[in-house]
Amino acid sequence: MKVLGLETSCDETGLAIFDSERMADDSHGLLGQVLYSQIELHATYGGVVPELASRDHIRKLVPLINELLEQCHISKQQIDAIAYTKGPGLIGALMTGALFGRTLAYALDVPAIGIHHMEGHLLSPLIGDNPPKFPFVSLLVSGGHTLLVAARGVGQYEILGESIDDAAGECFDKAAKMLNLPYPGGPNVAKLALDGNPNAYDLPRPMLHKGLDFSFSGMKTAVHNLIKDTKGSDDDPKIRADIAASFQHAVVDTLVKKCVKALKQVQMNQLVIAGGVSANIHLRSMLEQELAKINATVHYAPLELCTDNGAMIAFAGYQRLQAGQCDDLAVSCVPRWHIDELPAVKE
Ligand code: KG4
Ligand code: ZN
Repeated sequence: MKVLGLETSCDETGLAIFDSERMADDSHGLLGQVLYSQIELHATYGGVVPELASRDHIRKLVPLINELLEQCHISKQQIDAIAYTKGPGLIGALMTGALFGRTLAYALDVPAIGIHHMEGHLLSPLIGDNPPKFPFVSLLVSGGHTLLVAARGVGQYEILGESIDDAAGECFDKAAKMLNLPYPGGPNVAKLALDGNPNAYDLPRPMLHKGLDFSFSGMKTAVHNLIKDTKGSDDDPKIRADIAASFQHAVVDTLVKKCVKALKQVQMNQLVIAGGVSANIHLRSMLEQELAKINATVHYAPLELCTDNGAMIAFAGYQRLQAGQCDDLAVSCVPRWHIDELPAVKE
């Protein structure tokens, strides 16, 4: 089954084709993918402007699908089904992909299904090498979400903990802004941190000993005060790098400790990390180091599948379509949607 995946929930227009008959190949079934990032468009404003995002998705969807079909050497008539991101995300941006996908499916007379963006992220490590097997704990860390989920099968998700305020990615983005680094902040903070000492400054680890929930909003004040005290926003490059490294280490340390706690709580020995922040190298290496101590393993998607992309939506769509699930002709997007509300896929 060839599934076209469409991702338009925020500032990336991602399209991909997943072919279930090619899963054993080196490509893991990924026939091809195209991605257009709106980073430059939003950089001037320091964050995503929803209306501009929607308009740009509309401009890009048709040229991108033509490019994708050419890359995959197939015609649109060979598409067997279409999966699009139905939520959570920016409503206008979601509607562009949903309407495009639903309309194309109608014209081609193939089924269509709306996919939960975070389920796309959660399942993305199953596409790569060394895929985990259910059950596992998943740490979902993106610009809008920080979630710890016990995943017992596709659609069988129990939320173990979540952020009560800012998401981990959002926290990286805000720290970057304070350090006068360009949007999106996460990768830029990580880059600056490479030259810094992670133990230079002691930043707080909020809610470390309180269950499995997270709180990152206090980090803003902590970083703000640190920059003020050290004049780190525009002066000494060494101080700036130390601030970035200490900040990154505080966030990563908190995430890692909660993951270890979650694995012990549900007695599982596999951790999957997904979402934009899972691209963070410090997070990956700290997890590898700490999980080895409790005989657990960590799994993540290839770097290009960590941030938003169409492949994860095509893959999640396939999981549900092959179980007979699909949506009717109505197009409805869900900007706020809890992952544990999804229907299970029976094995
Ligand atoms: O999953 P994603 O692409 O989009 C959302 O669904 O939100 O995640 C984007 C987030 C941004 O906040 C970005 O700063 C963060 O992921 N991010 C990173 C890294 N790469 C992306 N954060 C830390 N380190 C990175 N290397
Ligand atoms: Zn995402």
